[in-house]
Amino acid sequence: MTRHFITGEELADDELVALIERAIELKASPLQSRALAGRSVALVFERPSTRTRISFEVGVGELGGHPVVLGAGELQLSRGESLRDTAIVCSRHVCAIGIRTGPHADVEELACYATVPVINMLTAAHHPCQVLADLLTLREAFGRLEGLRLAYVGDGNNVARSLALIAPRAGVEVTVSSPSGYSLDDPPPGTRLVEDPRAAVAEADVLYTDVWVSMGDESTAAARRAALAPYRVDEALLDRAAPGAIALHCLPAHAGEEISADVLYGPRQRIWDQAENRRHAQKALLELLSSEVA
Ligand code: CP
Repeated sequence: MTRHFITGEELADDELVALIERAIELKASPLQSRALAGRSVALVFERPSTRTRISFEVGVGELGGHPVVLGAGELQLSRGESLRDTAIVCSRHVCAIGIRTGPHADVEELACYATVPVINMLTAAHHPCQVLADLLTLREAFGRLEGLRLAYVGDGNNVARSLALIAPRAGVEVTVSSPSGYSLDDPPPGTRLVEDPRAAVAEADVLYTDVWVSMGDESTAAARRAALAPYRVDEALLDRAAPGAIALHCLPAHAGEEISADVLYGPRQRIWDQAENRRHAQKALLELLSSEVA
């Protein structure tokens, strides 16, 4: 049975925590693992990417593997070849398939027919690889994960969903604060939903935000900016959090919209470490999943 990484729930709680610890080791010694030596990984990007593209491509190389990066329109998928046939063919050449696309069902269908692990590099519904990097960043910043309180403030999007789904498995309590109409639909059990952002961040160790207009939301941009304006993460909101609280953002950011420039570039953020940590966390994931493939 091939194990995929599509929502993040595929990892047991103890595996998730162990993966973060392994990522710390790999960050300290980036070339120590040759887990992908002589192997290739397909990286399919049907949507734009900076962090995911660079971190996966460099990460595969650091593990001794060969990344096969495929942009939008480069596969016969764009001319109607099925996900089933694409999955079968890719599985004959590579030891894992990463895919970034819109419909989450497409990733599930690819995984249904692939005989190598499929890794979700972002869909409209989930962004689990991002949360691995987020947890690594928290572990670095606080020296622990258990008992931390994270308040996500803003649009209840794919990142919010993945945080709410995955972070509690590592002991991090998640609160999601969004305005009416933009809240997380179908929140995982245990997620705190608090509409007032000032109440949501009280006693939080981490304030987390993301763009207000995600890929695919462009037609509703003006309404989104108006509704989400009170949810900007700025110094005043950070001051309401626990002493020593940090700010995270998965990027790309729009300084002055969902996050103020003084927070984005200031001393209380760990955002740029978080961006780097994509590579280290994903290397730990690739090491684990590839070890399960013959
Ligand atoms: N956070 C993130 O996924 O960034 P990219 O869209 O640049 O890959």
